[in-house]
Amino acid sequence: MIEIAPSVLAADMLHLEHDVRRIMDAGADMLHVDIMDAHFVPNLSFGPDITAALRRGFPQVHLDVHLMMTHPEDYLDAFAKAGANAITVHEEIGDKVVPALRRIRCMGLMAGISVKPGTPAERLRPLLPLCDLVLIMTVEPGFGGQKMMPEALDKAIALRAAGFEGVISADGGITPDNAAQAVSRGVNRLVMGTAVFRAADPGEAIRRARAASQA
Ligand code: DX5
Ligand code: ZN
Repeated sequence: MIEIAPSVLAADMLHLEHDVRRIMDAGADMLHVDIMDAHFVPNLSFGPDITAALRRGFPQVHLDVHLMMTHPEDYLDAFAKAGANAITVHEEIGDKVVPALRRIRCMGLMAGISVKPGTPAERLRPLLPLCDLVLIMTVEPGFGGQKMMPEALDKAIALRAAGFEGVISADGGITPDNAAQAVSRGVNRLVMGTAVFRAADPGEAIRRARAASQA
């Protein structure tokens, strides 16, 4: 079953509750919350307080938190307390990644690992037993509205071939028109910011993307 995880990064921040409710009513499966520290990526988004506000406003919605941060280890407890259901950290943070993944699971949350387009899938192998989900970046992280880099999707093939049976997400430039390219390679969760929050008909965008699994 393909899950659609709209990225709040693309929401109308001035009308956040209204915009998120519109997207959840349109059929989204969860919310993807992109946290950026202006160091790991050249952009600054939002923090635990906005995550906690989303939890207050949407008590039942799965919050899929993506930490694009150099020191996510300093914020794991804060995002767990804010109501995250899953926390994803980047492989590129180095040897802090194993303790971070262990801490996330120890707090009872889903543990995710993400790789930038330039990081080979092989770097994930030793981490897979510690992860419930892998987030494949199909753009250079930092900004929504970019064009998907299809070559990054081949990492999903390698992960499935390595026996990974968890969630594989694709994040960046995903649209209803290219979703089948991701799903056909073993991706089963689509992070979509612009293509859903900025769509004239978000429900249609979600339905078309989800239908990609039957393509
Ligand atoms: C990049 C962000 C984006 C966002 C999705 O760092 O993580 O990939 O979630 O944005 P769109 O769907 O607009 O490319
Ligand atoms: Zn993301």
